[in-house]
Amino acid sequence: MDDALHRPARLSRIKRTAGAVGFEMSSSDQTGALLSVLAASKPSGNLLEIGTGLGAGVAWILEGMNLDAHLTTIEINGGWAAMARSEFAGEERVEFVCADAHAWLDAYTGPAFDLAFVDWRAGKFAQLDQLIGLLAPGGIYIVDDLIPQATWPEDHPERIARFWDEWPRADMVAVPIGWASGLLIGAKS
Ligand SMILES: C[S@@+](CC[C@H](N)C(=O)[O-])C[C@H]1O[C@@H](n2cnc3c(N)ncnc32)[C@H](O)[C@@H]1O
Repeated sequence: MDDALHRPARLSRIKRTAGAVGFEMSSSDQTGALLSVLAASKPSGNLLEIGTGLGAGVAWILEGMNLDAHLTTIEINGGWAAMARSEFAGEERVEFVCADAHAWLDAYTGPAFDLAFVDWRAGKFAQLDQLIGLLAPGGIYIVDDLIPQATWPEDHPERIARFWDEWPRADMVAVPIGWASGLLIGAKS
């Protein structure tokens, strides 16, 4: 019942590469399938992902994007960013940025975002007001990895608790979802 109804064609290769290089942080298929749906709800949308990894999230988001939509994805690790960029070579709807997302958010002056998938700390555990300030009215905010996992560092539960202290917020209609790795989805009101 909870399984994705489809998978992006590139996903198997991305997951194989992730296994080969020991990258264990790719988004789950459940989160990915939901990202596809949310991306499809924003035709011509300006979309953002914080934390590209090897591009699993990009593959899922692209599944939902129409031809006029645009995705910017930010990754600090030059090796991961290069691998993701080469996987999607020739895909003009995606801009791969190799940068520290904290600094990137501070410097961003472009148009508002219609969807932000925040898969690292910037815009989630730090700079939350800033990230939400960059959303267009009706813009979607989605984060995952909110349910405790064996791989969490010792100080992570405190970080998660501080994240929940920020919700609910007057400028967002949001819902926590105990599904996949634990999600929060909100829309800017
Ligand atoms: C959970 S993984 C992303 C997985 C990816 N979104 C997916 O769907 O498969 C988080 C990524 O954030 C990257 N990262 C860590 N610190 C960062 C920073 N300061 N700025 C941007 N990316 C960062 C990590 O290198 C890692 O690749």
